[in-house]
Formats: sequence, structure tokens, C-alpha cells
Amino acid sequence: MSPMLAVFTVSLLCVGHSLPLSFQSRKHDGFQTEGHFTEKYFTQTLDHFNFNSVGNGTFQQRYLITDKYWKEGYGPIFFYTGNEGDIWEFAANSGFISELAAQQGGLVIFAEHRYYGRSLPFGKDSFSSPQVGLLTVEQALADFALMISELKQQLAAPLCPVIAFGGSYGGMLSAYMRLKYPNVVAGALAASAPVLSTAGLGDSRQFFRDVTADFERVSPACRDAVRGAFQQLSELARLQDYSRIQSEFFLCSPLASSQDVQQLYGLLRNAFTLMAMMDYPYSTHFMGNMPANPVKVGCETMLSGPDLLANLRDTAGIVYNSTGGLRCFDLYTLYLQCADPTGCGLGLDSLAWDYQACTELNLCYESNNVTDMFPPMAFTEADRERYCSQRWAVLPRPGWLKTQFWGDALSTASNIIFSNGDLDPWANGGVRRSLSSSLVAVNISEGAHHLDLRASNAADPESVTSARKTEAQLIAQWVAQERLRPQRSL
Ligand SMILES: *[C@@H]1O[C@H](CO)[C@@H](O)[C@H](O)[C@H]1NC(C)=O
Ligand SMILES: *[C@@H]1O[C@H](CO)[C@@H](O)[C@H](O)[C@H]1NC(C)=O
Ligand SMILES: *[C@@H]1O[C@H](CO)[C@@H](O)[C@H](O)[C@H]1NC(C)=O
Ligand SMILES: *[C@@H]1O[C@H](CO)[C@@H](O)[C@H](O)[C@H]1NC(C)=O
Repeated sequence: MSPMLAVFTVSLLCVGHSLPLSFQSRKHDGFQTEGHFTEKYFTQTLDHFNFNSVGNGTFQQRYLITDKYWKEGYGPIFFYTGNEGDIWEFAANSGFISELAAQQGGLVIFAEHRYYGRSLPFGKDSFSSPQVGLLTVEQALADFALMISELKQQLAAPLCPVIAFGGSYGGMLSAYMRLKYPNVVAGALAASAPVLSTAGLGDSRQFFRDVTADFERVSPACRDAVRGAFQQLSELARLQDYSRIQSEFFLCSPLASSQDVQQLYGLLRNAFTLMAMMDYPYSTHFMGNMPANPVKVGCETMLSGPDLLANLRDTAGIVYNSTGGLRCFDLYTLYLQCADPTGCGLGLDSLAWDYQACTELNLCYESNNVTDMFPPMAFTEADRERYCSQRWAVLPRPGWLKTQFWGDALSTASNIIFSNGDLDPWANGGVRRSLSSSLVAVNISEGAHHLDLRASNAADPESVTSARKTEAQLIAQWVAQERLRPQRSL
């Protein structure tokens, strides 16, 4: 993913410094978070599952909160289960949750995931061994469960129903909260959550096939131009004409090996991945800066002249050179290869994500130039094992997530919305059909990656407006049901 995040802000600032408790101001053109949320820290248990390893150790976990719309002590609590990045990014790109709180009198909390953003349990040593070992999905869920329970006491809100929200990996976490802690959350909105593919229940070709389909939908000529450009590039690579590749692609330094060629392929493919995920009808600052309808803009660029290599370079520039200030492409700083072929992002967050992709989360996606338009780039379970044992001295457990979080046997759960946008390459790794009257799949025909979580916008397609209405109705219903639950009066 990072389904995930290729955040271009490098969050190396402040690591190892004392945690700032003051409100932090941010500039976004998405949802206005400035002055809306208060930033706080929660003293969190370090190891929920072992009473001896780190004794009574705790760490400071960041969260954002607003009670602006809350019917104090009565209204529901809308809790965002943070994913792989700075929690302000998710708050800025999930305005729907506050809109819903305004309608339903809710309190809104965005909790940062341990090992991301400022919630580093061991500061700058968090990614050493054995410290990194406390980064697991299970620990993160336990953090959220404990935080909810304690904040409810602190806020004098013991009977307020809680609904979990999340997008992408955060959407997986919100669904898992309902599976594991139905005593704590009454329901979940799991937006663009690839719960099946990450549990190893997918097809390794699915992701890049669906990225390709987005460009093909704009025009088959676009797909052919991309394939043609990669063919020319691979021909130059075969001839080892590295200086020509450097000049065509404005690379900062010449290629020197086939490994550098693979790195260039990865960087270029990642640009298409991000345009497909962020294919929103208006410009955004989420995982970098994107123009409105980036897939269409990408296709126009791919078809803008006879020089396919120049077109491919400029298309990558939509993602990496959005400011127009990039002098040259630096192969190894703009993109990192890791255990997630769809991208790990940059900075410290990318380390945490890489570790998660090396342990519980399965992200073995390949491109092959047959079912997709990209150069053949395999990433098998064996490749993953080799990489992960070298990088982190761990062996992935490909079957564990499926065992732990129910795999494809979710139908006995309840109160989860699985929403997916048809334009999102993650969609077909998730639940696309309703499993019961309270496990509801919502399709958003013109939606990209969790468009439904974003604040409403004049450019929104009808499909997302109607999805949000369905979601609001189901959530109101679950909140009402929770208030009637008999044991609550004990
Ligand atoms: C844990 O807490 C107990 C009770 O406060 C204290 O006696 C003990 O020293 C603590 N252990 C560690 C490792 O901090
Ligand atoms: C970035 O964009 C600017 C403005 O369009 C352009 O002059 C420059 O060549 C681009 N940089 C790269 C590396 O493509
Ligand atoms: C992709 O497949 C086509 C058709 O088989 C072939 O001509 C082309 O060279 C391949 N491209 C790459 C980058 O391997
Ligand atoms: C959503 O779309 C998928 C894929 O096109 C389809 O298989 C599924 O039946 C649709 N689900 C609903 C609830 O409409």
C-alpha cells in the first residue's frame, strides 16, 4: 500500500524529541482540520499481551478530538482507527466523519496507530530489534479498545455507543474492531478495506490489473501507450544504453545495473498506482499532490506527442513533480522498494509499513505485462521471505491474518459496512457483496480510494452522495440498537 501511503512528507522531524502537546496548525485544501481538532496524548500500555516483557511500560499515543457537535454524554462516539501514517493526514482527508457527527450529535476521535506519526513507543529506536516486535495488528487493536474504554470514563460518556471508522488498512482495523471487540464498538464503516487480499485470499495479479483497467477505461490507446513506452524502455535497458535512459528520464545519476532498471520500473509503476488510487474528481493533497481526475490527466500526458518515453517521464512527473520544482528524478529517494509492491511511502512511516508487510499483512502483488500494462515484476511469497529475513530477520506468516481475523468466513459477524469504489485498485481485494442484512457491501461506481470518507464536495458523483446516505442510515440504526441493548442497564 501503502494502500496505502506514499506520503511525500518525510516525518523525521521531532523524532526522539519530547512530544509536543500543543495544537499543531496545518494547511490543507481538503477538510479544514485547523481549529477543529485538539491534539492530545494518551498514556498507552506498551505490551497488551505479555505482563513480563516490558513490565508496566507505557508510551504516549497521539489522538485528535472534537466535541464541537457532541450531545454531551449522550451522542455517539465516532472513532477513526488510524492507519499507516500521521493522524492529521487522515483527519484532513476524512471530513465525512465530522459531517456525520454534525448530523448525529457525535463526538469525533482520530487515534494514531502505534509506530506511526508521533506515536513511536521507543522514539528513534522504535525500528530496532526487539523493540519493533510490539508493532502488530493485535497490539494496535488493543490500543484502540483501551483508549476508547478509558476516554469514555474520562469524558463521562459510559453509555455512548461507539462506531469505528477507517479507510484502507484503517478500514481493515475498523472491521477487526467489530470482530474482536463487539463489546467496545457497536459497528464499523470499513471503507476501501482489502480484508480478503491482505489475508492471502486474493489473486496476485489483481492489483496491477485493476490499475491498468482504470487507464484503459479512459482509453485503450492510453494503455497501449504505457505498454509501448515500457517496451521502448526495456529495449534500451537490454542494450544497456543507460546514458540514453538517463537523459530521456531526467535522472539525477546514470543507471549502472539491472537493479537500477528495476528501481526505475518500480518508481514509474508507483506513479500509476497513486493516480489510480487518488482518482478523485477534484485536486487533493493526500499522499502527495494530485490534480483533479489524475487518471485522465495521466492519459492525456501519455498521448500528448509521438515521443512515448518523454510522455512516460512527464506522466510520472504528475506525481513526483507536482510542484514543478523537481530538477531531476532521484531513483532511490522518490521511491522505496519494500515488502509492499504497491509502495511503502517514505520516511519512518515506511519502515513501520514494511515491517507489517513482512509479518502479518500479505501484499504479494505482481505485474506481468499480460494481465496489466507494466513490465514483468514478480513478487512471490519466496521473494517476500528472502527480503524479510534479510531486512528484518523475520519470516512472514502468510496464513495468520486469515486465521486471526476470520478470512472469508465473515458472515457470522454483524454491523459492518464494506464500502468500495469501482475505480479503486484495492476494491477487488475487499468484500463486494453483502453477507447479511448487517454486513453490507456498498459499491461506489465512480469512486476511487475511500472517496466516501472525504468531506462532501460540489464535484462529487451521485454514487458517493448516495453511498454516504446509506452509511449514515445504517450507522444511526446501529447507534439506536446499541442504546436498547439489555445488558447496558446492569
Ligand atoms: C509495575 O508496577 C508495580 C506497582 O506499581 C511496581 O511495583 C513495579 O515496580 C512496576 N514494574 C515495572 C517494571 O515498572
Ligand atoms: C518538473 O516540472 C518542471 C515544470 O513543468 C519542468 O521544467 C521540469 O523539467 C520537471 N522536472 C522533471 C525532473 O521532469
Ligand atoms: C510486453 O509484451 C509485449 C507483447 O508480447 C512485448 O512486445 C513487450 O516487449 C513486453 N514489454 C515488456 C516491458 O516486457
Ligand atoms: C459491487 O460490484 C461488484 C463488482 O462489480 C459486483 O460483483 C457486486 O455484486 C456489486 N455489489 C453490490 C452490493 O452491488
